[in-house]
Amino acid sequence: MEKVALITGASGGLGQALAKKLIADDWKLILVSRDAHKLKTVYGDQQMQIVGNCTNAEGVRKIFSQINDSSLQPTALAHCVGNIRLAPMHRMAETDFLDCMHTNLFSAFHTLSGFINHLKQHSFSGSAVLVSSAAASIGTPNHEAISAAKGGIEAMVRSASASYASSGIRINAVSPGIMDTPAAAGIISGDLMREMASKQYPIKGIGNPADVAELMVWLLSDAAKRVTGQAWAIDGGFSSIRPLVK
Ligand SMILES: NC(=O)c1ccc[n+]([C@@H]2O[C@H](COP(=O)([O-])OP(=O)(O)OC[C@H]3O[C@@H](n4cnc5c(N)ncnc54)[C@H](OP(=O)(O)O)[C@@H]3O)[C@@H](O)[C@H]2O)c1
Repeated sequence: MEKVALITGASGGLGQALAKKLIADDWKLILVSRDAHKLKTVYGDQQMQIVGNCTNAEGVRKIFSQINDSSLQPTALAHCVGNIRLAPMHRMAETDFLDCMHTNLFSAFHTLSGFINHLKQHSFSGSAVLVSSAAASIGTPNHEAISAAKGGIEAMVRSASASYASSGIRINAVSPGIMDTPAAAGIISGDLMREMASKQYPIKGIGNPADVAELMVWLLSDAAKRVTGQAWAIDGGFSSIRPLVK
């Protein structure tokens, strides 16, 4: 059976890094973005491209209806849609909070539901990987909204992996620290901001989306066939260690 993966947020920094690696590993891709122009600019006429919005159930239904009408049936999902909304909660506008929840958590719920429904309809086994953040597991200032959204994703991943393990469906998350992508542009826009961000990590530096993509490729592959229900930190030790202060 040919290897087919669905990538949402395919025009983004992580989505592009992942697409590149999966193509090199002989996967056929279905690439989703809200913007046809962005997809064409990045991928030209390569791979199947779908314009859609996965932040709501109707948008996801339309995406899977196009997939069902095509010859490609995905058994892997990488949900790379998301954003970073930072502000102290007492000063965050309700619209920003809702945008953060819709873009990160609601999109993850609807897309994963649609994908599982697709696998069940076709009696396929499969694998999904969602994107969380280091902020889901360690308290960092001004991250209340994104922590809530990404913490919700990690909890949902555990529950969904329990629900569908017996159907041969594996579900994991990756939890990166800051990465050099458009989503983080506002946080690392100048040299000083970059240096400050880099210093927050026990292994200093800004994450490369290609490294996170590598982990995602592995999680989607058969090499990870015994792995489900986990959030994989890839954050320079940020969420799990405190180095000796010298
Ligand atoms: N960059 C970081 O430092 C960092 C750190 C931890 C976690 N993450 C997570 O990593 C994932 C990938 O993000 P990235 O870093 O690759 O950022 P990115 O380049 O901005 O890509 C994010 C993608 O999400 C989609 N998106 C953004 N806002 C949306 C909205 N309101 N509704 C629907 N889709 C929307 C966009 O797709 P279209 O515009 O093409 O539709 C975009 O391509 C996200 O879940 C992000 O939260 C990033």
